Amino acid sequence: MALDLAVVPVAGLGTRLLPATKSQPKEMLPVGRRPVVQYVVEELRESGIKRILFVTGYGKSSIEDFFDVNQQLVSHLRHSGKEEQLAELAFERNQVQYAYTRQREQLGLGHAVLIGEPFVGNQPFVVALGDSIIGMHAKSRIVERMIEEYERSNADVVVCFEELENKNEVVNYGIAQPKGQITGDVFELESLVEKPSVDEAPSNLAVAARYVFSPAIFSELEKTERGKGGEIQLTDAMCQVLKKGGKGIGIRLPKEEPRFDIGNFESYFQAFVDFALSDPQFGEGLEIYLRKKLSIEPGAE
Ligand code: G1P
Repeated sequence: MALDLAVVPVAGLGTRLLPATKSQPKEMLPVGRRPVVQYVVEELRESGIKRILFVTGYGKSSIEDFFDVNQQLVSHLRHSGKEEQLAELAFERNQVQYAYTRQREQLGLGHAVLIGEPFVGNQPFVVALGDSIIGMHAKSRIVERMIEEYERSNADVVVCFEELENKNEVVNYGIAQPKGQITGDVFELESLVEKPSVDEAPSNLAVAARYVFSPAIFSELEKTERGKGGEIQLTDAMCQVLKKGGKGIGIRLPKEEPRFDIGNFESYFQAFVDFALSDPQFGEGLEIYLRKKLSIEPGAE
């Protein structure tokens, strides 16, 4: 059976983005024209995912509404002849099947994934974090490549990594410990460390919000105790799978498919500017505006 199932955790409180996230999910923040989670779903769909389980939480119901069909809005636009705006809602009818469940206690990412177990059962699945976009306008096939690699190498864990330019950022991410020297973009994983200090970090390769797992992850998650930050960490369960002889594969994100982390203001602002600058209608005008504002001559790099 094709691997066409993804769990998308969207239950986090978004505390690093307060007050913007006080009464709306961070996954619904707009980046350019669309909310973050719409890019995530489009990326998954392009990679062959047909079933998505959102693990939501309190105050996240606007995500459910967003992927539903809004009949009233559709007929209003149709009757007023607003065809262009109507086309923007075409995603409501895409061929993805959505399911929703709730994480009722904030016990961390590992716990959120474990909540998906009764739905996933005994089959491999993708995990895609709902607050990260991969590639400009989500034009990334990294998940498809990860699935291929999962099947080819008979792995238990496939993770994609972003190379951090600034080593001080390791404290914000799960960090890879590769097996031996890395020679290409695909490498074997020895282990991982969740949010290490700069000195402890085994590399500058940061877990970039996309994973493929065999069901072996669930039996480890069930046993995983609270770790970093008092939360049940997905990284800790992955380490246990590897320690017990499971195979782990890392794939480096290509430079032209950057990851946009919408989990803090600094990277959210950057993502918004990048996406707005590439808007087909308003991008050019925004660039002129920014150049003027920053006193950069037109044509200068
Ligand atoms: C989580 C994971 C971390 C990973 C990150 C990717 O951290 O625990 O390993 O690198 O997502 O976005 P969080 O951002 O939820 O603190």
